[in-house]
Amino acid sequence: MSNVQTKPLLQVDHLSIGFSQYVKGTQKRIIHPIADMHVEINEGEIVAVVGASGSGKSLLAHAVLGILPSNAIFSGKMLYRGEELTPARMEKLRGREISFIPQSVNYLDPLMRVGRQVQIGLDPRTARAQQEKLFLQYGLQKNDGRLFPFELSGGMLRRVLFATSVREGVRLVIADEPTPGIHPQALSEILRQLKQFAEDGAGVMLITHDIISALEIADRVAVIKDGATVEISEASAFEGNGERLKTEYTQRLWRALPQNDFDLEFKREAVR
Ligand SMILES: Nc1ncnc2c1ncn2[C@@H]1O[C@H](COP(=O)(O)OP(=O)(O)O)[C@@H](O)[C@H]1O
Ligand SMILES: [Mg+2]
Repeated sequence: MSNVQTKPLLQVDHLSIGFSQYVKGTQKRIIHPIADMHVEINEGEIVAVVGASGSGKSLLAHAVLGILPSNAIFSGKMLYRGEELTPARMEKLRGREISFIPQSVNYLDPLMRVGRQVQIGLDPRTARAQQEKLFLQYGLQKNDGRLFPFELSGGMLRRVLFATSVREGVRLVIADEPTPGIHPQALSEILRQLKQFAEDGAGVMLITHDIISALEIADRVAVIKDGATVEISEASAFEGNGERLKTEYTQRLWRALPQNDFDLEFKREAVR
């Protein structure tokens, strides 16, 4: 899109993530679900991260946020606003400058009223009023704040998750599949909200397997396969027959979509 600034906000390079696992009780081995991932997000830019289920999208998000499981072995370079993202820095930024819309509603605390959860991290003097405003903005009722997660529908919980990500001073938003099984009107609302973050100057990482929706707002698209970045292209390259895309993999991924000529053979082997 036209007026995107080009100041790198997040730079991830040569990211590799492994897990040590016990096999047959005592033997240890290391698996590497993320082998060589890279992605860069500029201020005010929306980068869609697309890839099949299990390709490593959530792990990428969790690495940037510093919430990988404790048995994860991590290497690579991650810079935020030009400086290394150390664990201490991630903790300081998480939920403040870097906000997260997780894939699972299980990230909510089952024992805390949802209104209270949205108030965390807000200025205590105005937290209540801000939370109620956010609820209205996301189509939730004022009284819903008193409910516990189990009392809300899946769709409402997703909106609560979204509300927790809206913070003054947010510079990077990481949304992990924010639109699964969502009805079209809610979908366009979520895309609009993400676009608003970018228009306010934040960088947005939109993790999804819904390329078509992502292209409505994305500036660039990073394609992930088996834990590695296959290609990063301008969103505008995803058009026609995909001849402007850089790799055969992405071209085939693009052509496999029902909107295009629907390469069924590819869909069977790669999109699972
Ligand atoms: N804690 C873990 N221990 C071992 N393997 C894991 C762990 N978390 C994720 N993985 C593996 O890493 C791969 C990528 O997972 P994930 O990032 O969740 O994929 P995606 O979000 O793209 O669907 C998967 O094969 C998954 O099984
Ligand atoms: Mg995931």
